[in-house]
Amino acid sequence: MLPLFKKKTSLPAYPPDIHSHLLPGLDDGTKSYEETLEILKQFYEIGTRKLYTTPHIMSDLYPNEEETILGKLSWVKEKLTLDDVDIDIQAAAEYYLDEILLEKLDNTPKKLLSFGDRYLLFETSFMNQPFYLQEFIFKAISQGYKPVLAHPERYSYIQNDPSILDDLMQRGVLLQLNIISLAGYYSKPVKKLAEKLIDQKKIHFIGSDCHNLQQFLALKEAMTTRHYKKALDLPLINYKL
Ligand SMILES: [Fe+2]
Repeated sequence: MLPLFKKKTSLPAYPPDIHSHLLPGLDDGTKSYEETLEILKQFYEIGTRKLYTTPHIMSDLYPNEEETILGKLSWVKEKLTLDDVDIDIQAAAEYYLDEILLEKLDNTPKKLLSFGDRYLLFETSFMNQPFYLQEFIFKAISQGYKPVLAHPERYSYIQNDPSILDDLMQRGVLLQLNIISLAGYYSKPVKKLAEKLIDQKKIHFIGSDCHNLQQFLALKEAMTTRHYKKALDLPLINYKL
């Protein structure tokens, strides 16, 4: 007997991504161009055609300069053309909130790498609410940026008191959820808060935060969850990029 046709389970295309670590050798992301190439090919497979990759800028661990990031981006783009990969890759950065970032906002604000309509991706300490948080938001907005908090579901101080996010949003902060949180990649509490933020429609951007192939596989797993589909129904700014 002939096998029955397999029912196709097609996933909705993954929209333009705004958070990843795919410029080789700059941070804890990909280690080689080949690894970057493999991941970008996989992004193409799931429907992504545009992607802002965001190396860490963190004064002690990854003291990247904006020029270094843009230089590495040009190098990668040139190689991708030769390899015939039809994906539009751009670069911004994931800024760690510290005194150096505040100094940059004071002294060289135009230098900062943002994406789209001047969206500025930032992260904070995972344990404690930073002392400078409100000052940073005020300065970033005064300089014409729209601050985007990376993966709010991952910070323990926010897990302990999610109402902090309401205050941040009132001050003009946008929230970016990591999709792999929905696969339970980090922990159960992170997954739970990620789902709750989607249910409460508090998410403005989604991101992969992809550092390596293993995380890309977790992304594919997360794309099968009910909350991923629910997230795609939100008015995500990703669609406008
Ligand atoms: Fe990241």
